[in-house]
Amino acid sequence: MSSPIAAGQPYSSEETQRIIEQFNRDGYYHLGPVLAADEVEALREAMARKVADPRILNDEAGDHIRGISLMRMFEYSEAFRDLVVREPFVSLAEAILGDNCHLMSQNALYTEPDSSKVPDGPGGWHLDDLIHFPLPDAVEQHDPCITMPCFVLQIFTPVSDVESIEYGPTQIVPGSHRAGRGPAEQDKPTFCGTGPISLFARAGDAYMFNNQIWHRGAPNASDRTRFMAGVTYSKRFISQRFYPFIDYRMPPHVMEGASPRLQRLLGRHEKGAYG
Ligand SMILES: [Fe+2]
Repeated sequence: MSSPIAAGQPYSSEETQRIIEQFNRDGYYHLGPVLAADEVEALREAMARKVADPRILNDEAGDHIRGISLMRMFEYSEAFRDLVVREPFVSLAEAILGDNCHLMSQNALYTEPDSSKVPDGPGGWHLDDLIHFPLPDAVEQHDPCITMPCFVLQIFTPVSDVESIEYGPTQIVPGSHRAGRGPAEQDKPTFCGTGPISLFARAGDAYMFNNQIWHRGAPNASDRTRFMAGVTYSKRFISQRFYPFIDYRMPPHVMEGASPRLQRLLGRHEKGAYG
Protein backbone atom coordinates (compact mmCIF):
# COMPACT_ATOMS: atom_id res chain seq x y z
CA MET A 1 0.00 0.00 0.00
CA SER A 2 1.14 3.54 -0.55
CA SER A 3 -0.43 6.96 -0.25
CA PRO A 4 0.72 10.46 -1.15
CA ILE A 5 0.80 11.47 2.53
CA ALA A 6 4.33 12.73 3.22
CA ALA A 7 6.39 11.93 6.30
CA GLY A 8 6.68 15.65 7.03
CA GLN A 9 8.95 17.39 9.51
CA PRO A 10 8.42 17.72 13.26
CA TYR A 11 8.98 21.15 14.80
CA SER A 12 12.23 21.77 16.67
CA SER A 13 12.04 21.12 20.40
CA GLU A 14 12.09 24.90 21.04
CA GLU A 15 9.25 25.53 18.60
CA THR A 16 7.28 22.58 20.01
CA GLN A 17 7.65 24.04 23.50
CA ARG A 18 6.49 27.46 22.32
CA ILE A 19 3.45 25.93 20.55
CA ILE A 20 2.51 23.84 23.58
CA GLU A 21 2.71 26.83 25.91
CA GLN A 22 0.38 28.79 23.65
CA PHE A 23 -1.89 25.74 23.26
CA ASN A 24 -2.09 25.24 27.03
CA ARG A 25 -2.95 28.90 27.55
CA ASP A 26 -5.49 29.35 24.74
CA GLY A 27 -6.80 25.79 24.27
CA TYR A 28 -6.06 25.82 20.54
CA TYR A 29 -3.32 26.49 18.02
CA HIS A 30 -3.44 27.25 14.30
CA LEU A 31 -0.52 25.59 12.52
CA GLY A 32 -1.04 27.31 9.15
CA PRO A 33 -0.24 25.51 5.85
CA VAL A 34 0.94 21.90 6.28
CA LEU A 35 -0.35 19.52 3.60
CA ALA A 36 0.64 19.59 -0.07
CA ALA A 37 -1.90 19.63 -2.88
CA ASP A 38 -1.64 15.89 -3.62
CA GLU A 39 -2.19 15.05 0.05
CA VAL A 40 -5.26 17.28 0.16
CA GLU A 41 -6.59 15.68 -2.98
CA ALA A 42 -6.18 12.13 -1.64
CA LEU A 43 -8.01 12.96 1.59
CA ARG A 44 -10.77 14.80 -0.16
CA GLU A 45 -11.20 12.04 -2.72
CA ALA A 46 -11.52 9.46 0.07
CA MET A 47 -14.24 11.50 1.76
CA ALA A 48 -16.15 11.97 -1.50
CA ARG A 49 -15.87 8.25 -2.19
CA LYS A 50 -17.14 7.33 1.24
CA VAL A 51 -20.05 9.77 1.07
CA ALA A 52 -21.05 8.30 -2.31
CA ASP A 53 -20.82 4.72 -1.02
CA PRO A 54 -24.40 3.43 -0.63
CA ARG A 55 -23.31 1.23 2.29
CA ILE A 56 -22.48 4.34 4.27
CA LEU A 57 -25.12 7.02 4.33
CA ASN A 58 -28.11 4.98 3.22
CA ASP A 59 -27.70 2.69 6.17
CA GLU A 60 -28.31 3.98 9.70
CA ALA A 61 -25.87 1.39 11.03
CA GLY A 62 -23.24 2.53 8.52
CA ASP A 63 -19.98 4.29 9.22
CA HIS A 64 -21.39 7.68 10.01
CA ILE A 65 -22.87 9.80 12.79
CA ARG A 66 -25.91 11.83 11.74
CA GLY A 67 -24.88 11.62 8.12
CA ILE A 68 -22.17 14.26 8.41
CA SER A 69 -19.45 12.57 10.45
CA LEU A 70 -17.73 9.78 8.54
CA MET A 71 -16.26 7.32 11.02
CA ARG A 72 -13.02 5.28 11.00
CA MET A 73 -11.55 6.91 7.92
CA PHE A 74 -8.25 5.04 8.54
CA GLU A 75 -10.02 1.87 7.44
CA TYR A 76 -11.40 3.40 4.32
CA SER A 77 -8.39 5.26 3.04
CA GLU A 78 -4.67 4.72 3.28
CA ALA A 79 -4.16 8.47 3.09
CA PHE A 80 -6.23 8.93 6.24
CA ARG A 81 -4.35 6.11 7.94
CA ASP A 82 -1.01 7.69 7.08
CA LEU A 83 -2.24 11.09 8.27
CA VAL A 84 -2.10 9.62 11.81
CA VAL A 85 1.73 9.59 11.65
CA ARG A 86 2.15 12.69 9.48
CA GLU A 87 4.52 15.24 10.97
CA PRO A 88 4.26 17.63 12.64
CA PHE A 89 0.94 16.22 13.95
CA VAL A 90 2.13 13.01 15.55
CA SER A 91 5.07 14.57 17.40
CA LEU A 92 2.84 17.34 18.70
CA ALA A 93 0.31 14.75 19.85
CA GLU A 94 3.01 12.77 21.65
CA ALA A 95 4.41 15.92 23.27
CA ILE A 96 0.95 16.89 24.55
CA LEU A 97 -0.56 13.47 25.35
CA GLY A 98 2.47 11.32 26.06
CA ASP A 99 4.62 8.89 24.10
CA ASN A 100 2.03 6.13 24.47
CA CYS A 101 -0.89 8.18 23.12
CA HIS A 102 -3.14 6.68 20.50
CA LEU A 103 -5.68 7.34 17.83
CA MET A 104 -8.98 7.76 19.63
CA SER A 105 -11.08 8.17 16.53
CA GLN A 106 -10.91 9.54 13.02
CA ASN A 107 -14.13 11.14 11.92
CA ALA A 108 -14.14 13.30 8.81
CA LEU A 109 -16.80 16.00 8.62
CA TYR A 110 -18.79 16.50 5.45
CA THR A 111 -21.00 19.60 5.53
CA GLU A 112 -23.18 20.38 2.55
CA PRO A 113 -24.25 23.94 1.76
CA ASP A 114 -27.40 25.18 3.44
CA SER A 115 -28.38 28.58 2.15
CA SER A 116 -31.16 28.80 4.75
CA LYS A 117 -28.55 29.22 7.50
CA VAL A 118 -27.16 32.56 8.60
CA PRO A 119 -23.35 32.22 8.63
CA ASP A 120 -22.82 33.79 12.04
CA GLY A 121 -26.16 32.68 13.50
CA PRO A 122 -26.52 30.94 16.87
CA GLY A 123 -26.33 27.24 17.55
CA GLY A 124 -24.07 24.23 17.68
CA TRP A 125 -21.70 25.37 20.45
CA HIS A 126 -20.39 22.50 22.55
CA LEU A 127 -17.40 20.81 24.06
CA ASP A 128 -16.72 17.25 22.98
CA ASP A 129 -18.11 14.22 24.81
CA LEU A 130 -18.13 15.32 28.47
CA ILE A 131 -16.71 17.86 30.90
CA HIS A 132 -13.48 16.45 32.30
CA PHE A 133 -13.10 18.81 35.28
CA PRO A 134 -16.52 20.23 36.19
CA LEU A 135 -16.76 23.32 38.38
CA PRO A 136 -19.61 24.48 40.63
CA ASP A 137 -21.54 27.57 39.47
CA ALA A 138 -19.84 29.79 42.03
CA VAL A 139 -16.40 29.14 40.54
CA GLU A 140 -15.87 31.00 37.29
CA GLN A 141 -12.92 29.06 35.93
CA HIS A 142 -10.00 26.82 36.77
CA ASP A 143 -7.18 28.90 38.19
CA PRO A 144 -5.13 30.20 35.24
CA CYS A 145 -1.96 29.24 37.08
CA ILE A 146 -2.98 25.58 36.60
CA THR A 147 -1.95 24.04 33.29
CA MET A 148 -5.11 22.28 32.20
CA PRO A 149 -4.21 18.73 31.17
CA CYS A 150 -5.28 17.78 27.67
CA PHE A 151 -6.72 14.28 27.41
CA VAL A 152 -8.13 14.47 23.90
CA LEU A 153 -6.50 16.46 21.10
CA GLN A 154 -8.44 17.25 17.95
CA ILE A 155 -6.42 18.09 14.86
CA PHE A 156 -8.33 19.28 11.81
CA THR A 157 -6.93 19.51 8.32
CA PRO A 158 -9.56 21.19 6.13
CA VAL A 159 -9.39 19.82 2.58
CA SER A 160 -11.64 22.47 1.10
CA ASP A 161 -11.11 26.22 1.45
CA VAL A 162 -12.87 27.76 4.44
CA GLU A 163 -11.45 31.23 4.18
CA SER A 164 -14.41 33.34 5.27
CA ILE A 165 -17.46 33.10 7.48
CA GLU A 166 -20.00 31.91 4.89
CA TYR A 167 -18.01 28.69 4.29
CA GLY A 168 -18.62 27.53 7.86
CA PRO A 169 -15.27 27.78 9.68
CA THR A 170 -14.54 26.04 12.94
CA GLN A 171 -15.09 28.61 15.67
CA ILE A 172 -13.74 28.47 19.19
CA VAL A 173 -13.88 30.56 22.35
CA PRO A 174 -10.26 31.10 23.45
CA GLY A 175 -9.48 29.93 26.97
CA SER A 176 -12.83 28.18 27.48
CA HIS A 177 -11.10 24.81 28.02
CA ARG A 178 -10.68 26.02 31.62
CA ALA A 179 -14.39 26.84 32.11
CA GLY A 180 -15.30 23.55 33.80
CA ARG A 181 -18.69 23.72 32.09
CA GLY A 182 -20.26 23.91 28.66
CA PRO A 183 -21.34 27.16 26.99
CA ALA A 184 -24.35 28.74 28.75
CA GLU A 185 -25.68 30.32 25.57
CA GLN A 186 -25.74 29.43 21.90
CA ASP A 187 -25.54 32.92 20.41
CA LYS A 188 -21.92 34.09 20.56
CA PRO A 189 -20.98 32.56 23.93
CA THR A 190 -18.31 34.41 25.88
CA PHE A 191 -15.84 33.17 28.44
CA CYS A 192 -14.30 35.65 30.88
CA GLY A 193 -15.14 38.48 28.47
CA THR A 194 -13.74 36.75 25.38
CA GLY A 195 -16.07 35.91 22.50
CA PRO A 196 -15.78 33.43 19.61
CA ILE A 197 -13.15 33.58 16.90
CA SER A 198 -13.15 31.82 13.52
CA LEU A 199 -10.30 29.54 12.48
CA PHE A 200 -10.17 30.42 8.80
CA ALA A 201 -8.17 28.03 6.68
CA ARG A 202 -7.21 27.08 3.15
CA ALA A 203 -7.24 23.44 2.09
CA GLY A 204 -4.10 21.86 3.56
CA ASP A 205 -3.90 24.12 6.62
CA ALA A 206 -4.17 22.54 10.04
CA TYR A 207 -5.26 23.60 13.51
CA MET A 208 -5.73 21.78 16.76
CA PHE A 209 -7.65 22.18 19.98
CA ASN A 210 -8.20 20.64 23.40
CA ASN A 211 -11.57 18.87 23.16
CA GLN A 212 -12.72 20.81 26.26
CA ILE A 213 -12.73 24.13 24.42
CA TRP A 214 -16.10 25.51 23.39
CA HIS A 215 -16.35 25.16 19.64
CA ARG A 216 -18.65 24.61 16.69
CA GLY A 217 -18.67 24.41 12.92
CA ALA A 218 -20.34 27.65 11.83
CA PRO A 219 -23.27 27.11 9.43
CA ASN A 220 -22.19 26.52 5.84
CA ALA A 221 -24.15 29.27 4.11
CA SER A 222 -22.08 29.09 0.92
CA ASP A 223 -22.56 26.97 -2.22
CA ARG A 224 -19.43 24.92 -1.41
CA THR A 225 -19.40 21.63 0.51
CA ARG A 226 -17.04 21.75 3.45
CA PHE A 227 -14.60 18.81 3.81
CA MET A 228 -12.81 18.45 7.15
CA ALA A 229 -10.20 15.73 7.48
CA GLY A 230 -8.10 15.19 10.58
CA VAL A 231 -7.13 12.99 13.49
CA THR A 232 -8.37 12.73 17.09
CA TYR A 233 -5.58 11.61 19.43
CA SER A 234 -6.01 10.79 23.10
CA LYS A 235 -4.03 9.77 26.13
CA ARG A 236 -3.52 6.04 26.49
CA PHE A 237 -6.09 5.75 29.30
CA ILE A 238 -8.89 7.16 27.17
CA SER A 239 -10.41 4.27 25.28
CA GLN A 240 -10.35 4.16 21.51
CA ARG A 241 -13.81 4.67 19.99
CA PHE A 242 -13.99 2.26 17.13
CA TYR A 243 -17.62 1.36 16.54
CA PRO A 244 -18.99 -1.26 17.30
CA PHE A 245 -16.57 -1.17 20.23
CA ILE A 246 -16.12 -4.58 21.92
CA ASP A 247 -17.17 -6.23 18.68
CA TYR A 248 -14.82 -4.16 16.57
CA ARG A 249 -12.10 -5.98 14.65
CA MET A 250 -9.58 -3.89 12.80
CA PRO A 251 -9.44 -5.07 9.18
CA PRO A 252 -6.01 -6.67 8.51
CA HIS A 253 -5.24 -4.28 5.64
CA VAL A 254 -4.98 -1.36 8.09
CA MET A 255 -1.83 -2.82 9.70
CA GLU A 256 -0.19 -3.76 6.40
CA GLY A 257 3.12 -1.93 6.09
CA ALA A 258 2.44 0.08 9.24
CA SER A 259 5.53 1.23 11.17
CA PRO A 260 5.79 0.31 14.88
CA ARG A 261 4.81 3.90 15.72
CA LEU A 262 1.70 3.73 13.56
CA GLN A 263 0.82 0.30 14.97
CA ARG A 264 0.99 1.72 18.49
CA LEU A 265 -1.18 4.66 17.50
CA LEU A 266 -3.70 2.21 16.07
CA GLY A 267 -3.79 0.47 19.44
CA ARG A 268 -1.01 -2.12 19.49
CA HIS A 269 0.27 -1.08 22.92
CA GLU A 270 2.81 -2.58 25.23
CA LYS A 271 1.74 -3.90 28.62
CA GLY A 272 1.29 -1.29 31.30
CA ALA A 273 -0.71 -0.53 34.43
CA TYR A 274 -3.92 -2.63 34.50
CA GLY A 275 -2.89 -4.77 31.57
FE1 LIG B 1 -16.93 18.93 18.46
